[in-house]
Amino acid sequence: MDCSFLSMEGKVALVTGASRGIGKEIAKVFADAGADLAIASRKLEGLEAVAEEIKPSGKKVLCVPTHAKKMEDLENLVSKTMDTYGRIDVLVNNAATNPGMGLVVDTEESLYDQIIDTNLKGYFMLSKMVGKVMQKQKTGNIVNVSSAGGVSPAEGLGPYCISKAGINMLTKQMAMELGPFNIRVNAIAPRVVKTGFSKALWTNDKLMEQEFKFTPLKCVATPQEIAQAALFLVSSATNYMTGHVLVMNGGAFF
Ligand SMILES: NC(=O)c1ccc[n+]([C@@H]2O[C@H](COP(=O)([O-])OP(=O)(O)OC[C@H]3O[C@@H](n4cnc5c(N)ncnc54)[C@H](OP(=O)(O)O)[C@@H]3O)[C@@H](O)[C@H]2O)c1
Repeated sequence: MDCSFLSMEGKVALVTGASRGIGKEIAKVFADAGADLAIASRKLEGLEAVAEEIKPSGKKVLCVPTHAKKMEDLENLVSKTMDTYGRIDVLVNNAATNPGMGLVVDTEESLYDQIIDTNLKGYFMLSKMVGKVMQKQKTGNIVNVSSAGGVSPAEGLGPYCISKAGINMLTKQMAMELGPFNIRVNAIAPRVVKTGFSKALWTNDKLMEQEFKFTPLKCVATPQEIAQAALFLVSSATNYMTGHVLVMNGGAFF
């Protein structure tokens, strides 16, 4: 079978949170599929290490240290990417944080602000900036890495789940507004993925035993599986799909 519909040859992809975990795998999979990249996260060293890993693919990698909460950083990320490549075909919003857990009634305002500003406002503002670029191009593809927590509540993760539910609506809203410009916007909503972000969960045997009682596939996801789904969403295989939230939860029924 000709699988050239997965090719990203000639495309430019901007991936946030790409220094490790899911974002790093997305960057690697996209480069393997032929894309040139702009990758962002707060720390340059992590980005440069990923760029080094991608080198054998022969694709270009621009590393731009960026704090998702800082508007000037997001503007700089878009302008550096445009100066370097002159276009942005794909945006993956992926950088997120969850620095604290607890019940909603016990949540400090500062914690709420930090999570919402980084996760939801960060995705919103970068999508707005890149959306303008894509409107001019009359083509583009945005993938928001959301969470299953944006679809159903998760214990102790109130502000995080709320930020991800907001991202799901951002996805649908922008899909509606940008569809006429030939721009698609979709989201991936994983449950537990084996990265540093959720290590406290997947290394807790008792918790996982409980989790797998209601998870038919009896395992957590790998970052590679999420990255391959991202490639599927930006490929022509999904040309007629927009505003979709692709839940990847091993079939979990809670
Ligand atoms: N792992 C899971 O179980 C899971 C499940 C569902 C959804 N997700 C979602 O998947 C996405 C990626 O998570 P992950 O598991 O790959 O996490 P991770 O391994 O901790 O990686 C997070 C990435 O985001 C960057 N980052 C964190 N805070 C940032 C900020 N304020 N500004 C800019 N960059 C920032 C980090 O780099 P720096 O430290 O250099 O900034 C890193 O590159 C997130 O949106 C997360 O909500 C994860």
